[in-house]
Amino acid sequence: EGERYAAATGGVRRRVLVFPLPFQGHINPMFHLAGVLHARGFAVTVFHPDFNALDPSRHPSFDFVPVHDGIPRGDGDDGVLASVARILELNRSCEAPFRERLAALLATPGCGDVACLVADAHLLTMMDVARRLGVPTLALRTGSAASFRLFAAFPMLCDKGYLPARESKLDSLVPELPPYRVRELMTFGTGGGDHGHNLIGEILSRAVAAARTSSGLILNTFNALETSELAALRLDIDVPVFDVGPLHKVSPAAPSSSLLQQDRGCLEWLDAQAPASVLYVSFGSIASMSAAELVDMAWGIANSGHPFLWVLRPGLVRGAPTQTTLPDGFDDATRGRGAVVSWAPQDEVLAHCAVGGFLTHSGWNSTLESLCAGVPMLCRPCFGDQPGNARYVEHVWRAGLVLDGGELERGMVETAIRRLMEGDDGAEMRRRAGELKSRAAEGITKAGSSCLSIDKLVNHIMSL
Ligand code: UDX
Repeated sequence: EGERYAAATGGVRRRVLVFPLPFQGHINPMFHLAGVLHARGFAVTVFHPDFNALDPSRHPSFDFVPVHDGIPRGDGDDGVLASVARILELNRSCEAPFRERLAALLATPGCGDVACLVADAHLLTMMDVARRLGVPTLALRTGSAASFRLFAAFPMLCDKGYLPARESKLDSLVPELPPYRVRELMTFGTGGGDHGHNLIGEILSRAVAAARTSSGLILNTFNALETSELAALRLDIDVPVFDVGPLHKVSPAAPSSSLLQQDRGCLEWLDAQAPASVLYVSFGSIASMSAAELVDMAWGIANSGHPFLWVLRPGLVRGAPTQTTLPDGFDDATRGRGAVVSWAPQDEVLAHCAVGGFLTHSGWNSTLESLCAGVPMLCRPCFGDQPGNARYVEHVWRAGLVLDGGELERGMVETAIRRLMEGDDGAEMRRRAGELKSRAAEGITKAGSSCLSIDKLVNHIMSL
């Protein structure tokens, strides 16, 4: 299709520049989007810092331009606030090298006519640089429409005293933003004190500014999933909003943009399991837990009696950066019904018929991947948009339940897994997830809402 399109425009592909935020949950949707735009006839150039750099040889359709960030290696990117600080640091450190690289690219004969830069909404500085060099910008926000509304509402939530959140108010509803409770607001936990609160405020207001000053906001969501949230967001924000998700389904054949090596052997292990029998357990690329939580999680999983596939990525347990060890006796207790890997081909795992439930940290990509595979979720959200995603899963989409509250306790984990995998409740959640899977599939058919949004996005880019 791309070649046909390029031929129709005289053989010259207009070029789209993309700059993903170099974290896994942001890289994946940006690469899927880049794949979609490439298939629609655009040449694609990826700007990428040294931090979490990707291997260009895995993406032969794209051109890559390294941006030297100068950030020292190996200084431990642990914890949420450290990740937030890293995002702000990347904005600062990439500014000058990006300006230089972009100016050089624009001066290169034959690089194609640059249509725009699509940058992650957390890269406001790069968008400012591009605009100053005459390149229009679009912002990709990798979370839900609901969570973006929350970003924009942060100052109001502070003015009204919801934030910083007080422990005694965590279960109060926030009438301005249903169905959220104070617990789900963008607090990144109640820790971090004034410094943490200010850092979060800064990162959220920058993301909102990135969207408002751009020529359009692209969201990895779909109309049937967030109908009212998208409508409300379109009233809140003056730029066009493109709901083009689920991007991993729109661009399924794209080469993997995984930073870690995916263990594909677990797909064979799944082949040998009964349909809908396996609990898949994964906490994404950044969320972590304490050693004590890991122990209770392990015994909850073991005592549930269900087969499981568990991703224990390096760094999952705080204080154990390389290796995660399961408690003594766990292997014997679960022999023959469990598999543990350090990183999985997650969307293929979720789409496998043996998987019947997902114990997740409720990152937005994981949530979408699960819904689009019709897999109900047991949510144990950690920070940022995750508590809000989990709230939607339980209360709005009714495709899962939340293990919320304070400390994890093994009995609670076991009961929740049984409810998800065995009970009538679980069957109903599976049915609801199945319905959303169908809605997502309809959205990406030719006249579907996401496909039409992509058409509009392509026309919009061509008009810039
Ligand atoms: C973060 C936030 O949590 C998320 O809410 C935000 O919108 C984007 O950044 P992360 O915590 O890593 O991302 O979670 P998630 O959004 O679920 O993304 C993880 C990605 O890694 C998913 O695309 C998932 O398929 C992939 N993954 C995860 C693997 O490929 N293998 C694994 O074993 C686990």
